[in-house]
Amino acid sequence: MSLNSIKARIIVLYVSIMAVFLIGASIFFIFYLKGVVLKPVDLSLLKKAEALDKLINSTTIKFEIFNVYGKKFEIDLSKAQLWIYSSVYSKYYFQLRTLSGKLIEKSKSLGKLSLPYSNRMKKFETIKLSGKFLRLVNYVDKKNQLIIQVAYNVENEINILERFELIIFSTLFFILFISALAGFFVSKSALEPINKIKEQIKAITEHNLNKRIDVGEVPDELKDLIESFNTLLERLRKAFLREKRFISDVSHELKTPISVIQMQCEIALRKERDSKEYKKALETIEDTISLMSSLVEKMLMVSRLERVDKSVFSEVELSSVLRSAYELLKGRADECDIDLDLNIPNDPIFVKGDKTLLVEMFVNLIDNAIKYNNKGGCVLVEVEKLGSSVVVKISDTGIGISEDEVEKVFEEFYRADKSRSKDKEGFGLGLSIVKKIAQLHGIEIKINSSANAGTTFYLVFKS
Ligand SMILES: Nc1ncnc2c1ncn2[C@@H]1O[C@H](COP(=O)(O)OP(=O)(O)OP(=O)(O)O)[C@@H](O)[C@H]1O
Ligand SMILES: [Mg+2]
Repeated sequence: MSLNSIKARIIVLYVSIMAVFLIGASIFFIFYLKGVVLKPVDLSLLKKAEALDKLINSTTIKFEIFNVYGKKFEIDLSKAQLWIYSSVYSKYYFQLRTLSGKLIEKSKSLGKLSLPYSNRMKKFETIKLSGKFLRLVNYVDKKNQLIIQVAYNVENEINILERFELIIFSTLFFILFISALAGFFVSKSALEPINKIKEQIKAITEHNLNKRIDVGEVPDELKDLIESFNTLLERLRKAFLREKRFISDVSHELKTPISVIQMQCEIALRKERDSKEYKKALETIEDTISLMSSLVEKMLMVSRLERVDKSVFSEVELSSVLRSAYELLKGRADECDIDLDLNIPNDPIFVKGDKTLLVEMFVNLIDNAIKYNNKGGCVLVEVEKLGSSVVVKISDTGIGISEDEVEKVFEEFYRADKSRSKDKEGFGLGLSIVKKIAQLHGIEIKINSSANAGTTFYLVFKS
């Protein structure tokens, strides 16, 4: 299990949340417990300090306390008539200091030891004296002349607290270990559906691209992902089929010209012929090769379009694009006795794209408009501005496209109504090139056509 896996992340997250919560709760509980255990001790220390304060200042018991700034203090705790202050066996330790911290007197119970003092001392604190834990109060007397320090051996209380701390922290580590274990099993069962999906995906190969992941068995959170995956699979399957069909169509298209060339060569070589016959055979071969070369060019264009980098598109002036396409085809239109007209506005119109590709697109459309036209017919190329969009209209008075074929004409190697276009040369690649270039430029294509009623292509450039 790598640290980058979902399982590891779930466990780390789970344990971290638990750790933060449990450590917080434990610290709170330990403080609370300390308070509960030490509060009565503190109260009793305070009471002792107050009592000693009273005792020192009482008139009945003779403790001579002179002015703090005077020569001497004469306080003798052994003279206190209460055992607790005077006995060497007392569990309480007493000590008197001046406000500046000078030691004046201490109880016998302290022996040679003395309670520590520093200016920064807190009122209550736990100290360690000769290896024992003592709870200490630093109390300033009522007359503000003395610091009365009272301490009590809290070894037992501290032991209890330490034992509790140990129990709490071991429980904490145990709970964290259990939650890591729980995290492991929870994540394992939560990720189980992913493993199932993985198995299903593994079973999909190029031979069964029509297989899909069963969305019914997938948890809701993963449904969208799997549906997208299935859609992607469908797109891939179609692309794969298209590729396959493309290769078979290309082979098919090349088969005829190759057999024509082969036949011409065979006939020419069968016996000695005169130069006229050789010339005729070579001319046929040349025509066929030029047809093959135009097919190869179109195929190269199709493959080039797959690799176009849109980031290099720049501002292109539309009229100049149309004019270039017009110039390229004007001669052909004249040859076919077609009236080719260009009607473009004087104002420059800029669109974002690649000029060569845009010219290629219009050449294909105008070429079709000329090719699938009737003798003496017309082709009109116009530009219209519709709000923020620019529409280029290419209309012809040709043979038209029947309604059921309009959608199909953009498919690779599709040629509508073979009988009507049988005398026209072509491979059925022109419009698929047009469609790809339009897609790259975000151009919408609409067709208005019906058989024998001419065709109009609308190219909508959105801004
Ligand atoms: N302006 C049009 N009028 C009538 N039919 C058209 C027109 N444009 C396209 N078509 C029909 O759509 C089919 C596909 O056109 P496309 O340009 O893709 O191929 P093509 O012209 O046959 O061959 P290619 O352009 O590859 O030389 C054509 O065969 C034709 O039947
Ligand atoms: Mg064409």
